Amino acid sequence: MPNTLPTHIAIIMDGNGRWAKQRHLPRLAGHRAGAEAVKRTIEAAQKLGIKYLTLYAFSTENWTRPQDEINGLMDLLSKTLDTYTQEAQAKNFRLLVSGSRDPLPPTVLEKIDKAVQTTAHNTGLTVNLALNYGARQEILHAVNALLAQGKQTVSLQDIADHLYQPQVPDPELIIRTSGEERLSNFLLWQAAYSEFYFTPVLWPDFNAQELQRALDTYAHRTRRFGGV
Ligand code: IPE
Ligand code: IPE
Ligand code: MG
Repeated sequence: MPNTLPTHIAIIMDGNGRWAKQRHLPRLAGHRAGAEAVKRTIEAAQKLGIKYLTLYAFSTENWTRPQDEINGLMDLLSKTLDTYTQEAQAKNFRLLVSGSRDPLPPTVLEKIDKAVQTTAHNTGLTVNLALNYGARQEILHAVNALLAQGKQTVSLQDIADHLYQPQVPDPELIIRTSGEERLSNFLLWQAAYSEFYFTPVLWPDFNAQELQRALDTYAHRTRRFGGV
C-alpha cells in the first residue's frame, strides 16, 4: 500500500545562487526567482491538500554571507512577506515563522508580526517560514525555556512542546533542491523519522510537477520506524 499524502512537507530551498550564476546574473536575481518558486509551491501544496509546509528561507549560518547579499535578502523578505500576506488572505493560508528574532532587522520583524497576526485565523495550508532558523539553536531554546521553569529533568515531550512551533507535527517528507544532500542545521529534532528526497533541480526551477515527483517517490517508501 503506498503511503498516504504527507501532512507536513519541509523544503530546503537551495540553489538560487547557482541558478543566477548559470545566467550570468547577480545572486539576488536568483533569490528573486526563488521567491516566485515559493509562491508556486505554496499554491501547489494548497491544491494537493497538504496541511503544513515548512520552507527554509534563511539559516542562522547565512549571516556569514557578504553584507550586500544579506541586505538584498532582507529587503526581498520584507517585500515578499507583504505579498504572501495578501495572497494568504485571498487563498486562506496561514503564515507562521520559526526562528530567532535576534538579529533580524526591525522592518522584517514588523512584517513577520503583521503576517502572522493577519493570517492567524485562516484554515487552509499552514506555511511555516524558517527564517533566521537553526535547529541546534531551536533545541537549545527549548532546553533553556525548561530550565527557566525550574525543571531538573526533562522528557522527550517537554522538548517537543518547547520547540518554536510545537503545534506543527514532524515532517513526513523533507525535500532539498540543488543536488546537495545535507540538513544544514534544519529540523534536527523533527527529522528523526522523516523521508528525504533530494533533487538536482535548482530552487528557482521548482514547481508543481517537481513537488508531485517528490510525492510519488515518497508514496513508495517503506517507513518502518524501527519495527520490522
Ligand atoms: C538558497 O540558495 C537560498 C538561501 C540560502 C538564502 P543559495 O543562495 O544557497 O544558492 P546556492 O547554494 O549558492 O546556489
Ligand atoms: C541551507 O542552504 C539554508 C537555506 C536553504 C535557507 P545553504 O546554501 O545555506 O546551505 P549550505 O551552506 O550549502 O550547507
Ligand atoms: Mg546554498
